[in-house]
Amino acid sequence: MQDRQQTGGGGSTVSRRAFLQGSGAAVAATAVATGATEVVAEANKPARLKSAKAQKVVLTVNGKEHTLMIEPRVTLLEALRNDLNLTGAKEVSNVSNDGADTVIIDGKAVYASTRLAIEVEGKNITTVEGLSEGKNVDEVITAFVKHDATQCGYCTPGFVVAVRAFLDKNPGANLEQIHKGLGGNLCRCGTYAGVTAAAVELCKKGGA
Ligand code: FES
Repeated sequence: MQDRQQTGGGGSTVSRRAFLQGSGAAVAATAVATGATEVVAEANKPARLKSAKAQKVVLTVNGKEHTLMIEPRVTLLEALRNDLNLTGAKEVSNVSNDGADTVIIDGKAVYASTRLAIEVEGKNITTVEGLSEGKNVDEVITAFVKHDATQCGYCTPGFVVAVRAFLDKNPGANLEQIHKGLGGNLCRCGTYAGVTAAAVELCKKGGA
């Protein structure tokens, strides 16, 4: 078959065969590089992540240590809900983009379904259950009730935790910062106005 010349807009010419040969070499080089990277990554994995067997994992949740026997594939959300019976954090979708599973890990709001339980050993985890004790409830919860920031309630625990984590870092935030800071949580019932009003009130009080 004739090896036709292709002309680019800039006037340079390249043969189709030469181009395909070059592409093949590039793909092969990429495959080799990727394979090598995977081998290195596998070698660097902690020994505990190489075994699929259930193993001891100690989680510090709401100030208490819990020793679990779980497989490395278990997510933090699964461990909280299935092993510790802390069902405040919810699973809504399997792509972790709604925030109903928000918890605080070492001061940062995190989707619990995006972390393996084994990864967060030794870190301080706070769930919505940790924001109340008897009649002592976090100001965020009080503000949510006052501003009617809940309807079906499915997203609410995640929102409460996200607001608490946000206020701890941004106690005097303005409206724009609040909208941006809480952008990782979704509510199908549309309670955004109430959630925002609660956060605004708490920011006026210095994060309460
Ligand atoms: S209150 Fe129903 S999803 Fe938010």
